[in-house]
Amino acid sequence: MKLILSITLLFLLLPSSIKSFRRRDLMERCPLVKPMRSLQLNEMLGFWYVVQYYSSSEDNPEYKCLRANLEITDTKEITMNFTYFFLNDPNNELMMGNITWFIPNFSDLSHWIHSEQSFEGVYNTFIIDSYQDWALIMHCAEKKRSPRYLSALMLSRSPSLANNVKIFLREKLPQYNVDLDHFFDVRQDDCIEGIATMNDYYKYVLQKKDDESFATKANTDAATDQDVDIANLL
Ligand SMILES: *[C@@H]1O[C@H](CO)[C@@H](O)[C@H](O)[C@H]1NC(C)=O
Ligand SMILES: *[C@@H]1O[C@H](CO)[C@@H](O)[C@H](O)[C@H]1NC(C)=O
Ligand SMILES: *[C@@H]1O[C@H](CO)[C@@H](O)[C@H](O)[C@H]1NC(C)=O
Repeated sequence: MKLILSITLLFLLLPSSIKSFRRRDLMERCPLVKPMRSLQLNEMLGFWYVVQYYSSSEDNPEYKCLRANLEITDTKEITMNFTYFFLNDPNNELMMGNITWFIPNFSDLSHWIHSEQSFEGVYNTFIIDSYQDWALIMHCAEKKRSPRYLSALMLSRSPSLANNVKIFLREKLPQYNVDLDHFFDVRQDDCIEGIATMNDYYKYVLQKKDDESFATKANTDAATDQDVDIANLL
């Protein structure tokens, strides 16, 4: 269980050390970002579909049905719960994770910093743009002895986003050295039916836990395969 929880943060936070070939978008330093002005933080909260994502550490799309829910805590931190599936998972297992940020300067609401202690370096998150039904956010972290890690998420309130909006948002990224060839679509059409809100997800997960208490040994073996993959990535 702990392994699964730690992997959930992986794709947003931790660069994989395995590189298959050299990419032109790998830099030493994080770009200087001009996040959007006068962000209405409330507009960022709630349930989102991640319709496209970029990660400087991934050569191929790895996830589908990536969805996130943002909330503000009592201590004015931002938490994001997210759920996803691995594209190539034969068991189609729902994965979950969460991230917490603090806002270093409340006059500048579009810049967040990860609160988690366990990661090397400072992780900055910027809201590049946001408007009612969509948002574009970018993360960057500088590392000792390895290229900076950069990722971006395109968020949409509905499972699909109009093409012109996608193009409009994508065009904001090359200035930060995002290679658009690696800005992947996230399938939202091959997911588990009837899950459209975070609450639906919790119900589903609880149900699944009940089911799992009746699990057979065959399932345990399959789960072990998945754990091996995760261990390799970490
Ligand atoms: C995140 O998930 C936890 C349960 O794991 C839940 O208690 C919390 O309310 C959720 N927060 C958001 C922002 O969905
Ligand atoms: C967030 O994830 C951590 C592990 O990464 C877990 O211990 C914690 O319970 C989770 N919190 C919520 C609110 O889901
Ligand atoms: C906070 O942000 C405002 C607006 O961008 C800026 O003028 C101010 O200098 C910042 N304060 C600090 C301590 O960085």
